[in-house]
Amino acid sequence: MSIDVVILAAGQGSRMKSKLPKVLHPLAGKSLVKHVIDQASQLNNSAMHIVVGHGADQVKEALSDLSCQFYTQAEQLGTGHAVAQASAGLRAGGVTLVLYGDVPLTPASVLEQMVQVAQTGKVSLLTVNLDDPTGYGRILRSAVNDVVGIVEQKDANEEQLAITEVNTGIMAMPTDHLNEWLPQLSSDNAQGEYYLTDLIAMAAESGVTVQALHPTSEFEVQGVNNRRQLAELERWYQLQQANAAMDAGVTLADPARFDVRGQLRVGQDSHIDVNFVAEGEVRIGSNVVIGPNCSVKNSIIGDGVEILANTHIDGAVIAEACQLGPFARIRPGSQLAAGVKVGNFVETKKALVGQGSKLNHLSYIGDAQIGEEVNVGAGTITCNYDGVNKSLTEIGDRAFIGSNSSLVAPVQVGAGATIGAGSTITSKVEEDQLSVARGKQRNISGWKRPIKKG
Ligand code: UD1
Ligand code: CA
Repeated sequence: MSIDVVILAAGQGSRMKSKLPKVLHPLAGKSLVKHVIDQASQLNNSAMHIVVGHGADQVKEALSDLSCQFYTQAEQLGTGHAVAQASAGLRAGGVTLVLYGDVPLTPASVLEQMVQVAQTGKVSLLTVNLDDPTGYGRILRSAVNDVVGIVEQKDANEEQLAITEVNTGIMAMPTDHLNEWLPQLSSDNAQGEYYLTDLIAMAAESGVTVQALHPTSEFEVQGVNNRRQLAELERWYQLQQANAAMDAGVTLADPARFDVRGQLRVGQDSHIDVNFVAEGEVRIGSNVVIGPNCSVKNSIIGDGVEILANTHIDGAVIAEACQLGPFARIRPGSQLAAGVKVGNFVETKKALVGQGSKLNHLSYIGDAQIGEEVNVGAGTITCNYDGVNKSLTEIGDRAFIGSNSSLVAPVQVGAGATIGAGSTITSKVEEDQLSVARGKQRNISGWKRPIKKG
């Protein structure tokens, strides 16, 4: 049976105090609405329909590489009016699931249950009991506890305001019912809006069962109206990520200072210190030790790697037992073989470094192929860029590059070659040669320093 998902994202979100449409604000590095789409996309045979209004162009642009159908709600006349904008695109005989673009963390498993209930011909409504229900639509139940309606805060009487079961806004129902009921909505209420919530009473009156389902946690249905709520949800989300890592056998120095903005997999007995940020796709092996203030983005890190404080790794593949940092910067295209050491204030970019090689201090190694057991001395720079082109530096196995050398690419240093400290190497050094390319030292005896007159 087809599943049409209508995501409401036309509201202004004025309490965000932002030029960016609310649904495009990021949570864990991904926009709120993309979270909603990603969860809903896990439903089989689902199609996404997004109702946009405020900042419509920006929202459409941000989602342009997804297969979503967009509907513009020029005036925000209510949630019922918003869903009605999409009704022509909904497939007869299927079910429709209504979600909000600013409620990012409802898991696919909950959506799946909602849809399954709707597929039996009922209306399913996600409700939650709140200690403080202020602002939400209250769930009205009959004497036999059936859901018979929803009353909005502004329309509720004192007795209804005391109800703590509230509407999360998420509902699913057979599309044919939806399309029959939507045109019957009226705006005769306190806000002069077409309330989607009025469909619940229509269902009850026509004898269609409304089944209430509940989330596991309030956070799963919490919307974002302001930046405080955004931060609250972010923290809750990150705590789930931290718990998942710990449950998988990873030690975290502080689960509150551990952030995952993407997908992270970490092997057993790895230890992660405070202020760790993972972005994109990150795979970390087992027995890895990560010091404080490190970030890893789109990278693979092998078993037993040790990463010292303040090291940043992006787009790299790091084999087992490497030692990095403190203060190392490993940039995209870096591939370090087993046992490589990269020390403080070393930057690598597009650098293939062979097994056991050492880049211990203060270097820039970009566009380079370095063999095995090479020693790159302190302050070595690959001069890879002439202002237009990037060129390659190749260094053979067991070469020794003296400190403070400049390797002007394109250039090759053969296996076993030695470069004298302070050299500027501009042409090929053959295997096992010593190359010294620096001003010859002159010692001048009897030299008198100038002295000030008077
Ligand atoms: C709505 C529900 C309320 C529920 C609450 C949960 C209605 C009438 N009320 O109230 O029962 O407890 O959500 O948060 O449905 N939107 C549009 N176009 C519109 C109006 C809204 O796209 O014309 C979108 C908003 O961008 C937002 C969502 O729909 O994503 C909900 O709108 P909002 O104004 O926040 O609804 P509430 O009044 O909070
Ligand atoms: Ca709201």
